[in-house]
Amino acid sequence: KKVLFVASEGVPFIKTGGLADVVGSLPKYLNKEEFDVRVILPKYLCMREDLKERLNYVSHFYMDLGWRSQYVGILETVYDGIQFYFIDNEYYFAGMKPYGNIYEDIEKFAFFSKAALSALPVIGFQPDIVHCHDWQTGLIPVFLKDKFHEGEFFKNMKSIMTIHNLKFQGVWDMNTVKNITGLPDYYFTPDKLEAYGDANYLKGGLVYADALTTVSPTYAEEIKTPFYGENLDGLMKARAHDLRGIVNGIDYEEYNPETDTMITANYNVRNFRKEKIKNKIALQKELGLAENEKTFMIGIVSRLTDQKGFDLINYMMEEMCQQDWQIVVLGTGEERYENMFRHYAWKYPDKVSANIYYCEAMSHKVYASCDAFLMPSLFEPCGLSQLMSLRYGTLPIVRETGGLKDTVEPYNEYEGTGTGFSFRNYNAHEMYNTIRYAHSVYVDKRREWNRLIDRAMAADFSWKKSADQYAELYNWL
Ligand code: ADP
Ligand code: GLC
Repeated sequence: KKVLFVASEGVPFIKTGGLADVVGSLPKYLNKEEFDVRVILPKYLCMREDLKERLNYVSHFYMDLGWRSQYVGILETVYDGIQFYFIDNEYYFAGMKPYGNIYEDIEKFAFFSKAALSALPVIGFQPDIVHCHDWQTGLIPVFLKDKFHEGEFFKNMKSIMTIHNLKFQGVWDMNTVKNITGLPDYYFTPDKLEAYGDANYLKGGLVYADALTTVSPTYAEEIKTPFYGENLDGLMKARAHDLRGIVNGIDYEEYNPETDTMITANYNVRNFRKEKIKNKIALQKELGLAENEKTFMIGIVSRLTDQKGFDLINYMMEEMCQQDWQIVVLGTGEERYENMFRHYAWKYPDKVSANIYYCEAMSHKVYASCDAFLMPSLFEPCGLSQLMSLRYGTLPIVRETGGLKDTVEPYNEYEGTGTGFSFRNYNAHEMYNTIRYAHSVYVDKRREWNRLIDRAMAADFSWKKSADQYAELYNWL
C-alpha cells in the first residue's frame, strides 16, 4: 500500500513542536514491505541549512490558486530510508519561521495543500491513502472530494485527518478563503467549511476525511466535550465512529540515554544510579546553578504557552523558589512567561535557570540531568516531552489530561507501581502539593524513587505499538 504524509513540519528538516517529531519518525516505523510511505513538506527558506544541500530538483509547473497562477517547484531527498518531497515557492516559504501571521498562513497552506496533491501525477506517486496532519493540511480532504483534479488519478484516494492540536484550526474570513482557494460557494456552509461565520480549514478536513485520528485515546474522548472541543465538540461527536486516538511514540534511537552524544554521561537502566548524576552536576555547572548533587532538580522543556500550564507555575513560582529545589527551564513563547522565568532566574540565580531559546542539544541535557520533569498542561493532545523524560529516567509530574494521562502512570506507594506523579484538577496548589510529594519520595525514600526510575526507563513508548495501530487503520480504509 502507498501512503502519503502531508504536513507543515517534520524532523530533521524543520521543527517547531511535537508535530515535526511525529511526521519525521512515524514513517520509519511502518513496515516497509507492507507500506510505501512518503512525505511532502514545504521547502522553507528557514529549514536546516545543511540539509538544504541534499535536496534534488525534480520538476516544476504552474498551478492556479484562485486568481493567481503560482510556481510549484518539487524537490526530493531520501533521509533515513524515507522518501521526502518538498514544495518550493519563495513567495510563500521565505519567512524567518515556518508560520507567520494567520492571514499569510491561510493562503500559504491553501497553496501548499493544493500543490502537494497537484505534484503527485508529476512525481508519479499515486497513494492509496493521504494522511493529513493539523489545520495546515485541512483543505486536502476537501480538494480530494472536490475532484478538482478530474479523471482517474485521485478518484480512489482515501484521506485521514490527524488532529495534533484542536486549538489551531486555520480560521479566516469566508470571502477571502473563497477567493484564495477557488472553491465554490457550495463548500461554505455550516455543515462543511463554515464555522461561526468564518471559513475553517481544519473543520473542512474533519468533515471530508474518511477517518479521523488524534494523538491519544483520552484526548479523543475529551474533544467531544465543550471544555476541550474548541467549538468543534459537536462535530467530533457526530464523527465519533470515525475518530480514534492513537498515542504517539518517540524515536528511541534519537532519544537514547545509552548512546546520546549530546549529554555528558551515558547511562542505562542498570547503571543510572551512578552515571545519571554526572549529567546533573555538569548542567549545574554549565548553567551557573549551585553545584550540589542532592538538590532536587526539576526540568521544563516546552513552548511557553498557556496550553502547557504556565499559569499554575506562575502562581506557585515564588513558593517553589523557597524550597530547596532547582528549576531549569528551556523554552520560548509568550513574553509574559519568558519574562516570568527571567525574573525568577535573576532573583534566585542559584536555583532557577531560564534558558529562553530553542536548542535541541540543551533539551537532551535537561531530559537527562533533572530528577523530575514538570508538565502541568491545561490540555495535552499527546505530549512528547514526558515520553522523552521517561526514557531518560527523569520522572514526569503531570496533570491528568490527554496523552499525559495515557502515558504517565501515577506512583502508588502501596502497590509499588507507577512511572511518575500526577494530579487531576487544573489547580495550582494541587500541582504544588504533587511536586512536594515527589520531592518527599526523592528525599526520604530513595530506593522507591530509584524503582520509579527503573519502571520509567522500562516503559515502552517507542513507535512499535502505535505504528501497528496506524497500519491497522490504513488496512481497514
Ligand atoms: P508541543 O508539540 O505541543 O509543543 P510536545 O511535547 O508534543 O509538545 O513536543 C514538543 C517537542 O519540542 C519536544 O520534542 C521538545 O523536546 C521540543 N521542544 C520544545 N521546546 C524546545 C526548546 N526550547 N528547545 C528544544 N526543544 C524544544
Ligand atoms: C501537538 C500537541 C502535542 C502533541 C504533538 C504531536 O503539538 O500539542 O500534545 O504531542 O502535537 O502529536
